[in-house]
Amino acid sequence: MAAKWSPESWRDKPIVQVPEYLDEDALTRVEGELKRFPPLVFAGEARRLKRDLGRVAKGEAFLLQGGDCAESFAEHHPDMIRDLFRVFLQMSVVLTYGASQPVVKVGRIAGQFAKPRSAPTETQGDQELPSYRGDIINGPEFTPEARIPDPERMLKAYRQSAATLNLLRAFAQGGYANLEHVHQWTLGFLKDSPQSHRYQALADRIGECLAFMRACGITSESAHQLRSTDFYTSHEALLLGYEQAMTRVDSTSGEWYDTSGHFLWIGDRTRQPDHAHVEYMRGIKNPIGLKCGPSLDGDGLMKLIDVLNPEDEAGRLTLICRYGSDKIGDHLSSLIRRVQAEGRTVVWSCDPMHGNTVKAASGFKTRPFDRILSEVHTFFEIHRAEGSHPGGVHFEMTGTDVTECTGGAVAITDADLSDRYHTFCDPRLNGTQALELAFLIAEELSRVRKGGERVQAVSGL
Ligand code: PEP
Ligand code: CO
Repeated sequence: MAAKWSPESWRDKPIVQVPEYLDEDALTRVEGELKRFPPLVFAGEARRLKRDLGRVAKGEAFLLQGGDCAESFAEHHPDMIRDLFRVFLQMSVVLTYGASQPVVKVGRIAGQFAKPRSAPTETQGDQELPSYRGDIINGPEFTPEARIPDPERMLKAYRQSAATLNLLRAFAQGGYANLEHVHQWTLGFLKDSPQSHRYQALADRIGECLAFMRACGITSESAHQLRSTDFYTSHEALLLGYEQAMTRVDSTSGEWYDTSGHFLWIGDRTRQPDHAHVEYMRGIKNPIGLKCGPSLDGDGLMKLIDVLNPEDEAGRLTLICRYGSDKIGDHLSSLIRRVQAEGRTVVWSCDPMHGNTVKAASGFKTRPFDRILSEVHTFFEIHRAEGSHPGGVHFEMTGTDVTECTGGAVAITDADLSDRYHTFCDPRLNGTQALELAFLIAEELSRVRKGGERVQAVSGL
């Protein structure tokens, strides 16, 4: 029997990657204030996402998860939110068409503020300061004052999340996502790129399908699926005091939900089975993710699955694999085989970002596009070989024209990185690179689909 869980039972466990607040009273006061704030998302929405992810687990849908590595207070702007939403819509159209399956859209947004760090301190010249841990904790400026954890930042993160979510809900439900606008989602800076031409050709075909459907009497007025979309939010549940304060009992089911986002995940550095982060996550009923890096073996994974999804609920647990293009081949097949042998239900998602970070000669942290692509490609290949469903992808991306990852069709070179390197944490795909990846994944998915059809045809003989 598992020990009794409560939203604060994590406080009795060992914990890593947390800030040390100097003013305990201020922390308690802020957490108390947050507890009285309205929820950002509703339990019913989280349940709907879990149902959608259950379809992904069964091979009937595809998950597209992405957004900033870290949201920032300084870059909070409606245009940034709109551009990310737009690139999401474009990628979803491409993927839906390629897979002939619904695409479940989950943003790393409206709460993605806290960052695990590889080192507790950062050195510049001869000065050593505590690391920046995300805007919800401390400031990115390299000064001793900025790096002091400040609980008031949690209130600002909550308010920014609420405002972001409000705009996202309006975009998703208020007409912007209407499929009849498929031509208008093209990002300004994308014009004349190869991706843009490819996208326009696809949009033309969709336009023809819509005209045909209209002639048959199915329009965006009559079918809400054409006029709106479901867009969910997600972030790493790292700052547990904040997550605990946002954890509420759902009045309809009597169960606990973390209402700071629809989907929460456990990072690769905080997935120790007997530690605080796993303890907190096991008790909330949201759909959750678990980052799986090279140090997680089959036994370790099974232990975590037993704790996090003991009832084998479809859609509850997404395994976000992040090995690196040179390591995925050594790790993924054995985990898939183990999960299959144990008869467990998970969503397999590929994060081709976090294992492919390198330092460019210019000194910038970057991710070569061909490595990202190669990890995605190997992910699909392994799933084909193992007969499992390549359920989704998890990207760090933006809808804007940044120069943070090298390569892609509009090749960004090492020398270009300094042009528009805006990230507060890890390098992100820009809108063009994200769309290019979507086309490549769509090809992989259509191969999966055709393979499936072949299998069915053979078994029908
Ligand atoms: C992240 O997703 O930004 C992250 C830190 O990932 P990971 O836990 O996989 O390193
Ligand atoms: Co990151």
